[in-house]
Amino acid sequence: MTELESEAMEAEFGTVAGWTEEAVRVLGPEFAIPAGCRGSGSEGGLRWLADRLRIDGGMRLLDDGSGVGGPAGWLAAERGVRPVCAEPMEEAVRAGRHLFGLPSVVAVSQQLPFADGSFDAAWCLGVLCTTSDKAGALAELRRVLRPGGRLGLLVFVADRPLPPPLPQGNDFPSEAELRQLLSGAGFRLEATADADLGDSPEEWRERADAVDAEVARRHGDEPAFQQAQEQSGRVGRLLSDGALRAWLGVAAAPGR
Ligand SMILES: C[S@@+](CC[C@H](N)C(=O)[O-])C[C@H]1O[C@@H](n2cnc3c(N)ncnc32)[C@H](O)[C@@H]1O
Repeated sequence: MTELESEAMEAEFGTVAGWTEEAVRVLGPEFAIPAGCRGSGSEGGLRWLADRLRIDGGMRLLDDGSGVGGPAGWLAAERGVRPVCAEPMEEAVRAGRHLFGLPSVVAVSQQLPFADGSFDAAWCLGVLCTTSDKAGALAELRRVLRPGGRLGLLVFVADRPLPPPLPQGNDFPSEAELRQLLSGAGFRLEATADADLGDSPEEWRERADAVDAEVARRHGDEPAFQQAQEQSGRVGRLLSDGALRAWLGVAAAPGR
C-alpha cells in the first residue's frame, strides 16, 4: 500500500482514473465531466453545493480529493471559476490536468501544500469516507480556508453497522460522528440534505456508461479492473439497500 488505506482503493482511484482518461480521449471531450464525476454522484448534488457555497467568478476554490477532476471541471464550466485540485493518486491528478486543464497537485487532505487562508471556499466530495483520519483532514481544510470561508461536503454515512461484504479501506462515519467532527474542527453547519445520486440528466448517465463500457472493453480482464468493480459494486449495494446514504453539507469556518 502506498498513499491510500487499501490496495483496492488504489486500483479504484488510481489505476482506473488513468483508464478513464484514456477512454475519454477516445470518445471525446464531452464525456469528461460525467466520467470524472463518478465519485460524487449527480449533477443535482453539485448544483446544491455550488449554490450554498455561493460560488462566483472571483473566488479562490479548492477541490480536496478531486479524483479525475469532474466536479472541479463542472464548476469551471458552470460557474466560470478555476478551482485548484488536490488528490493523492498521481494517475488521477494527471487525468484531471489533461482533461480539464486545472491547476492540480498530488497531496493528501491531511497535508495540504497551501498557506493558511489560501481559499474562499473548498469542497471535499466522497473523500472523508475513504480516510480514517477525518479530524486531520478537517483541521487542514479549516487551516487553508480564509476565516468565514465555506466547506461543501459529500459523505457516505452509515447510521448502523453495515452488512458484509464491505468495501476495503473505507471508513464510513455516522451522521452524528460527522457533525461532531465538524464542530470539533470549528466548522458551523449551515445546510444539509440527502443527495439523490440519480439526479443527473439522461445524457450525463449515458456518457458515464459509455466511458465505463470503453474502460471494460480495454481492461476488463485485468485484476485491477475486477478489484475496482468489486469495490464499487459493494458501495453500490450498500447504497441501494439503504445501509449507506449520501449526505451533503455546507459548513462555515470560524470568522475573524
Ligand atoms: C470517491 S472518490 C471521489 C473523487 C472526487 N472527489 C469526485 O467526487 O469525483 C474519493 C477520492 O478521495 C481520494 N482520497 C482518498 N484518501 C484521501 C486522503 N487522505 N486525502 C485526499 N484524498 C483522498 C481518492 O484518491 C479518490 O480520488
